[in-house]
Amino acid sequence: MSELEPTEHLPRIGEPAPDFEANTSKGPVRLSQFRGRWVMLFSHPADFTPVCSTEIMEFARRYDEFQERHVELLGLSVDSVPAHIAWTRSLAQQLGKPIPFPIIADLDTKVSRLYGMLHPRESSTATVRAVFFIDDGGIIRALLYYPLSTGRSVDELLRVFDSLQTTARMGVSTPVDWMPGQPVVVPAPATADQVEEREEAEKKGLIYRDWYLRFRQPSS
Ligand code: BEZ
Repeated sequence: MSELEPTEHLPRIGEPAPDFEANTSKGPVRLSQFRGRWVMLFSHPADFTPVCSTEIMEFARRYDEFQERHVELLGLSVDSVPAHIAWTRSLAQQLGKPIPFPIIADLDTKVSRLYGMLHPRESSTATVRAVFFIDDGGIIRALLYYPLSTGRSVDELLRVFDSLQTTARMGVSTPVDWMPGQPVVVPAPATADQVEEREEAEKKGLIYRDWYLRFRQPSS
């Protein structure tokens, strides 16, 4: 995949995640090096700020839960590598374990602009709290944008990965407030004939609410 010119660009669901090379707290990284793994690319506004500190520590504390889902974490802010190193060392001391994922030092805002992470009415200098959920083929499957004032929920981030990976595996959707292990939504019938197959489908173990709203138990 070729590198795009850094512009005010907002990648959208279903598009290839724009590739880039960047310096991080753990050395140079190229996004495409993670192909074959899922990636959570996320930005935070600034090092040494309180909400960001709680987020990075919680992402690190629950790192194994991302790894169990084959998800690599890649952070970003417009701070320098030395600032990232000093901050993550301080966070590691408080947490009692290292910060295991790299954080991009996007001083020239190249990656921030490539991913639409700068929202000038929210901050003229800092990236908002963006999250890009990138699948193992390098396709953007979901994205979230939160303002500076709202810390993200690790439970929800993991839940989105569980939903996306369930969809990728089974071709189903997940309903409101879905959690792993709960019934998933099978695609609605596309034709009247398929509607008539209802009884037959019921025998296959589908849970029927109406012809367009059918669930099944998930399988691994
Ligand atoms: C914070 O992480 O606490 C924060 C960062 C930038 C603006 C406001 C809050």
